[in-house]
Amino acid sequence: MTAESMVKEIERLKREKNAVILAHYYSRPEIQDISDFLGDSLALSQEAARTEADIILFCGVNFMAETASIISPSKKVIVPDNRAGCSLAESIDGEEIEQWRRENPGGVVVSYVNTTAEVKAFTDICCTSANALKVVNSIPQEKKILFVPDKNLGAYINLKTGRKMELWQGDCCVHERFDSETVLEMAAKYPDADILIHPESNCSGDPAIMAMPQTYYYSTAGMLKHVAESDKRQFVIMTEKEIIHQMEKENQGKEFISAGSRALCGQMKRNTLEKVLLALQNEGPEIKVEGELRERAWKSIEKMLEL
Ligand code: 13P
Ligand code: SF4
Repeated sequence: MTAESMVKEIERLKREKNAVILAHYYSRPEIQDISDFLGDSLALSQEAARTEADIILFCGVNFMAETASIISPSKKVIVPDNRAGCSLAESIDGEEIEQWRRENPGGVVVSYVNTTAEVKAFTDICCTSANALKVVNSIPQEKKILFVPDKNLGAYINLKTGRKMELWQGDCCVHERFDSETVLEMAAKYPDADILIHPESNCSGDPAIMAMPQTYYYSTAGMLKHVAESDKRQFVIMTEKEIIHQMEKENQGKEFISAGSRALCGQMKRNTLEKVLLALQNEGPEIKVEGELRERAWKSIEKMLEL
């Protein structure tokens, strides 16, 4: 089957089954191009809550599909490949959070959305890279915060807010490569470029990097907004490089340089056009979070969405 006929069949099945495709910016370009909604983790969660489709086909990684199932329990959430994991989500489990709480009585657990449903069930409030500062600022100053699982995002929040959150030592295997040295190299090589840094990056807690006039810290959606609004012509991108597909589509004449040749999330790449078609045909694999686990996980997401 050619790519063109696959796309046609995907479109037909979407209409027949009242399905919608939600995709993250790290998806393969051909998946970005057939999605009904493309977004960062926060926008995708909000869209999962809003959609009137019967089926959500989620092109991302498993924690994102789980989040959609928690938010929209009446919808069928399916994925192209249910082996799509995430190094951050896998760095902590519920028992480890409980242990951490015992060691820090009265601590408020803030979890980045890149966590399993089980971890969300043990969490007080979730956040994404787009709303992390807002979420942390909503917690009274005198409270101790236990932040999981991303040490780099946590260090960034500490730097921006002056808080002294305790940080779980998880990291994203893609963003961990973007260290302070890489930023300095890029700044020397591209002196006219804005350098856009995802706060999951290894350099996010470095005050010297933050003080540089050309560095900006954003979620993926924030980066797209910045490049659309900026008068600059050149941008260094410090996040998974597939987002550049969208940047180029929306900003002709501007140049986007990926800061890492290996800045690809292999888990996101598990999703292919062939698997999207199969998932729609089979209405599976399904990702479903149910019962008490769903109720408890929902509370931490609901608190975030209310802000
Ligand atoms: P955002 O799209 O929310 O910035 O998250 C990036 C990411 O790594 C998702 O896995
Ligand atoms: Fe997880 Fe990193 Fe991949 Fe995002 S880019 S899904 S944080 S492994």
